[in-house]
Amino acid sequence: GTTPRFRNEPLTDFTRPENRTAMRSALDAARRRLGETLPIVIGGRRIETGRWVDSVNPAWRGEIVARGAAATAEIATSAIDIARDAFPAWRDTPAGQRADLLRKVALILRRDKFALAALEVFETGKQWREADADIAEAIDFCHFCADEMQRLTRPHRRDIPGEDNEYFYEPRGVAVVIAPWNFPLAILCGMTAAALVAGNTVIMKPAEQSPAVSARLMDAFEEAGVPKGVVNYLPGIGEEVGPVLVKHPDTSLIAFTGSRAVGMLIARQAAELAEGQEQIKRVIAELGGKNAVIVDDDADLDEAVHGVVASAFGYSGQKCSACSRVIVLDSVYETFLSRLVESTRSLEIGPAENPGYYLGPVIDDEAQRRILAMIDRARRQSRLAYQADVSALASEGSYVPPTIFADVSPSASIAQEEVFGPVLAVIRAADLTDALRIANGTKYALTGGLFSRSPANIDRVRREFRVGNLYINRKITGALVDRQPFGGFKLSGVGSKAGGPDYLQQFLIPRVITENT
Ligand code: NAD
Ligand code: ALA
Repeated sequence: GTTPRFRNEPLTDFTRPENRTAMRSALDAARRRLGETLPIVIGGRRIETGRWVDSVNPAWRGEIVARGAAATAEIATSAIDIARDAFPAWRDTPAGQRADLLRKVALILRRDKFALAALEVFETGKQWREADADIAEAIDFCHFCADEMQRLTRPHRRDIPGEDNEYFYEPRGVAVVIAPWNFPLAILCGMTAAALVAGNTVIMKPAEQSPAVSARLMDAFEEAGVPKGVVNYLPGIGEEVGPVLVKHPDTSLIAFTGSRAVGMLIARQAAELAEGQEQIKRVIAELGGKNAVIVDDDADLDEAVHGVVASAFGYSGQKCSACSRVIVLDSVYETFLSRLVESTRSLEIGPAENPGYYLGPVIDDEAQRRILAMIDRARRQSRLAYQADVSALASEGSYVPPTIFADVSPSASIAQEEVFGPVLAVIRAADLTDALRIANGTKYALTGGLFSRSPANIDRVRREFRVGNLYINRKITGALVDRQPFGGFKLSGVGSKAGGPDYLQQFLIPRVITENT
């Protein structure tokens, strides 16, 4: 049949009183559930180990949002065994049926969107609109992967007289999905949905910081009727269970989104042949960035300031897509910088529960310490142009002040290393050639942006600013499934583009059958 045309899930309009009321009551309901314990789920069985990984409200240290059971190496091994045993029946389930299950998951997520968003507010400190966008993206991934699978299932035949040729796809086997906390539903859901609809069985390993949101995703898969053992939920410490999952001889595929260091470690471990292993493991790795926005000398500076502030400080800069360098042409440098500082000064900071705050804390105390140390080091190399005062909030949560460094040398560490926090380096460029050299001058190639009114310069930057996702005259975060397939290359990742037309193939093996007729 015909595949329905994909449409992005609309975002919730929080200016409408009924939506604000729904969100407030979801927050109240989420508050009543705080502290719940989350067992491991493998083969439909719920398991506790007596050891917990606590997820803590980043805005209020004393508040334990949930306690995820810490999986052991033995449980991780048995999760792979169970997923392997569940594989043949799932592989042989018609793709249309698998796609329909994902569409059911999407309906469940939509039904529960306020509850899920409220949980994200507590667990990951996401602002209402950011949490809502994460749920919408997860819904998009379900529909998109379902549609894509149906597209790939259409017959691909090259028959000639006397010879029939059929090209088709099969799943790979057991997929290990390892996810970060910063898009706690969407990224985990996107990788899992792709693996699942393709016919693989899945172990979901969520980040330590977001076991509760990911447990709700497991609930949605169960409620939709995904057979036991086909999706498994394995919370735990990455360093403990990650290597067990990655090195297991029956693991076929690892879909990882997270830091460069862990991604490279996984690639190395997956390349080693384990005893009894019968296949080459596929690694999909989507990693960090050091994303830049170029501000041309004829840019609309109001637009540029607005776009840079949103890209650098939205969700406290904790997006792989975030802007952490802004490269400004010499003639507009001082004007842009002073407007940027004024605009950043006006940002209200506080807990995400209150929708009046533009940004909140970073994910946890460890991130806070790491980012503050990077700011301290940068202060010795670069000029501090602005730093907010968050001292009044310091005793409550893991706050890091929005910070802007100016006149930063393109080779300074603050201009080269991913911060993953609300820190922006402003760099002066002599001309567009210089700006492009600086923009391309890191190991990463994830997102990038340009503000310019010159068609010739826009054309040139399109060709020469080599990143996975380039945005012109808008913010550089907030890619939408299908419209902006997302992902980078160089050390930002393997370039597989989540939410794009080449994504699902990585979870599949193509086969060809030729029959002499
Ligand atoms: P992280 O690498 O610390 O953790 C990611 C996941 O890996 C977690 O589930 C963690 O438990 C697990 N893990 C940790 N050690 C492991 C090991 N030895 N073996 C296997 N798994 C292990 O990253 P994070 O702090 O959760 O996320 C932030 C990073 O993610 C940033 O670098 C950001 O740029 C990147 N990111 C990239 C994208 C993208 O699409 N390119 C999207 C979001 C985040
Ligand atoms: N996909 C997310 C964004 O574009 C990371 O901001």
